[in-house]
Amino acid sequence: MIDNRIDKVLLTADEIEAGINKCAQYINKKFKQSKIPPLMVGVLKGCIPFLGRLISKVEFDMELDFIAVASYHGTESTQNVKIVTDLATDVKNRDVILIEDIVDTAFTIHQILEIFKNRQAKSITFVTLLDKPSRRILNLKPDYFCFTIPNYFVVGFGLDYNQKFRNLPYIGVLKKSYYS
Ligand code: XMP
Ligand code: MG
Repeated sequence: MIDNRIDKVLLTADEIEAGINKCAQYINKKFKQSKIPPLMVGVLKGCIPFLGRLISKVEFDMELDFIAVASYHGTESTQNVKIVTDLATDVKNRDVILIEDIVDTAFTIHQILEIFKNRQAKSITFVTLLDKPSRRILNLKPDYFCFTIPNYFVVGFGLDYNQKFRNLPYIGVLKKSYYS
């Protein structure tokens, strides 16, 4: 059943699942031979459904941790990242697989990547469910994205509007009447 505040569905639950299967093949191939278990780090909160499905398909030993940041878009410099929830794990010399819901301007992910570089992670593989390249400001590409989407504000499967809609099993575009 489609929520009546959704204008159109961009990605159905089945399409998302198929996309995550391919993503799992990519990380399984890349990390199957790892001697030290890679650390998968979810960027809260939007990563949760994606990460949940993805780790169930991972075929190597891994560890899990989370980070949450408040990002200040617009005129602010990239140093202006506030860590809301920090990792519990020391990432020094670890292979890190960073899991995001969406890359838009790329400010947020740039800031997070800087944190991991400063803490001397051995490698960082950046994986995102959605890529919205039309709004990119920083020249930054994910190592892997499941889907490219047009310039819509999307919700569902972890993505929110004012903290709502994260629970939808599909990804959709909100009706204009709902937020204007
Ligand atoms: P930047 O611009 O820093 O954005 O790459 C990343 C963060 O912005 C949020 N974002 C969205 N959230 N629907 C959402 O629900 C969208 O279409 C959307 N575009 C960007 C999101 O929190 C992401 O981590
Ligand atoms: Mg996010």
